[in-house]
Amino acid sequence: MSQDERTFIALKPDGMNRGLLGNIISRFEAKGYKLVGIKTLVPSRQLAETHYASLSSKPFFAGLVDFITSGPVCAMVWEGAGVVTTARKMIGETNPLSSNPGTIRGDFGVDVGRNGSDAVDTATREIGIWFEPSELCTWSPTASVWIY
Ligand code: TYD
Repeated sequence: MSQDERTFIALKPDGMNRGLLGNIISRFEAKGYKLVGIKTLVPSRQLAETHYASLSSKPFFAGLVDFITSGPVCAMVWEGAGVVTTARKMIGETNPLSSNPGTIRGDFGVDVGRNGSDAVDTATREIGIWFEPSELCTWSPTASVWIY
């Protein structure tokens, strides 16, 4: 299990409008993961359609693209051992009603079309869609230097 495994996490417009970003960042920090990339943007339809290309035949595809392009999205890359699988567990099931309390979707969501998003086996692909390599910062925590 690689220490520098990376995954892509997006907080969609509903979560941004509800002011959930800080809470969600805190959860990943508290777990011990490292933020190596972050930006807020209103995604273009092209970006959204590329991101969700595997869902293009689904009946909810157009609505999903409408929704994610309707406002700000916070795109993040988190790094650490097992982060792809663990982030999935921390986020919860795609349907928030099936998500356990304690997960992000279990604690904050009720509507399947209005939840956070992550990448599992597609992490590398999704990071490449949303971020230039130069936008990702490789760093090592040096807390002892800053705490007296
Ligand atoms: P998916 O990639 O299957 O799930 P996840 O977000 O957990 O990785 O689905 C992507 C998004 O599509 C999901 O976040 C919400 C939306 N969606 C619907 O709106 N309706 C549905 O029935 C499903 C399965 C997904």
